[in-house]
Amino acid sequence: MISEKIREDFPVLQNNKGLIYFDSAATSLKPIQVIEATNNYYKNLGANVHRGNHHLSQQATQLYEESRKEAAKFIKAKEEELVFTRNATESINAIATGLERQNYFSEGDEIVISALEHHANIVPWQELCKRTGSVLKIAELNEDFTLNMQDLQEKVSGKTKLVSVAHASNTVATIFPVKEIGKIAHENNALFLIDAAQSVPHFEVNAKKINADFLVISSHKMLGPTGVGCLYGKKDLLEEMPPYNYGGSMISKVTYENTEWASLPEKFEAGTMPIAEVIGFGEAVRYLKKLGMENVHEHEKKLLNHCIEKMKEIDRVKMYCPQDAENQGGIVLFGVKGIDAVDLGVALDESKNIATRSGMHCAEPIVSSLNPKGLGRASFYLYNTIEEIDTFVDEVTAISKAFK
Ligand SMILES: Cc1ncc(COP(=O)(O)O)c(C=O)c1O
Repeated sequence: MISEKIREDFPVLQNNKGLIYFDSAATSLKPIQVIEATNNYYKNLGANVHRGNHHLSQQATQLYEESRKEAAKFIKAKEEELVFTRNATESINAIATGLERQNYFSEGDEIVISALEHHANIVPWQELCKRTGSVLKIAELNEDFTLNMQDLQEKVSGKTKLVSVAHASNTVATIFPVKEIGKIAHENNALFLIDAAQSVPHFEVNAKKINADFLVISSHKMLGPTGVGCLYGKKDLLEEMPPYNYGGSMISKVTYENTEWASLPEKFEAGTMPIAEVIGFGEAVRYLKKLGMENVHEHEKKLLNHCIEKMKEIDRVKMYCPQDAENQGGIVLFGVKGIDAVDLGVALDESKNIATRSGMHCAEPIVSSLNPKGLGRASFYLYNTIEEIDTFVDEVTAISKAFK
């Protein structure tokens, strides 16, 4: 069980009395432990990592590498398979660039994504297809926002080189059956990439068990600082894949004529990394581990079920999600008939200090197909409460009556 006492760990909740923060899918709040770990680096160490013989550099390196150890263990990966990047978006771009430099994609090859992807898992592949002559295919959803597995089966074929899908959607909130999807990809000799930006923060994810070839994460969505992401890749694939950034730190030998790459994971970490943020991210992982991901997931399911049941009672509200906490993350995408989503978001903020998000949610293809003017989104995390959901639902009800 998650105690309400943990709210005291979150300065933004303490410094903004009455705030109801329902925008964790955009970015999560950070506990004081993470903020202090980040500050500690700047206050007490300050040195660069992997490049100094003095004790401050060595201590900073140790903390940086401990974060890698924590993050790798968290998704059951090996440390050398866990590369730090700036965010999930950069991780996907790194994979796209690396595979392209490896000449993995040719004209007529196919990449399959789903209809609910975030722009981060659409745009890099669209651009890659323009350059390589490969073709992007979209696996459709069912009416209830689950993945149409038959359509996926039909779209993945011998021509498919990559299947890349979100584990959990940041809009319609569906949790995809990634193990099954990966099996279909592998039966067709395609690589399998999981965008885990909205799953790893909320429930246990085992990269090995689901047999992901690549998996990407963003620290800031899981209580960690902004500016850090992870790229997990199977060791043999990362070893084969060329780096996407060149420069210092990612080399083992440089002459005027040629360069040899460092071994994993440094090969993919060119230049000075966001050291303080990586150290803070390690603390975020420790914080989540201490709470227990089972407890985090149970807590969110409780909030979600409560919200869904109460939202069903409001006239003119339509929810765009599976409405089933077993197959849905802690997100409710919704619209109120006759009210613009942005107006509703502003009204919730102004009347009751409720922070939601409105618009396209960086997933314009799916959201605009549901409402060309955008939708509202309430997204929950471990610091939210049932009482906050009651206030939110009451306020949506009041606003929907006032706008009549
Ligand atoms: C499902 C999903 N994928 C990828 C991203 C991109 O994350 P970032 O902006 O941290 O790179 C997001 C962020 O909203 C997301 O929700």
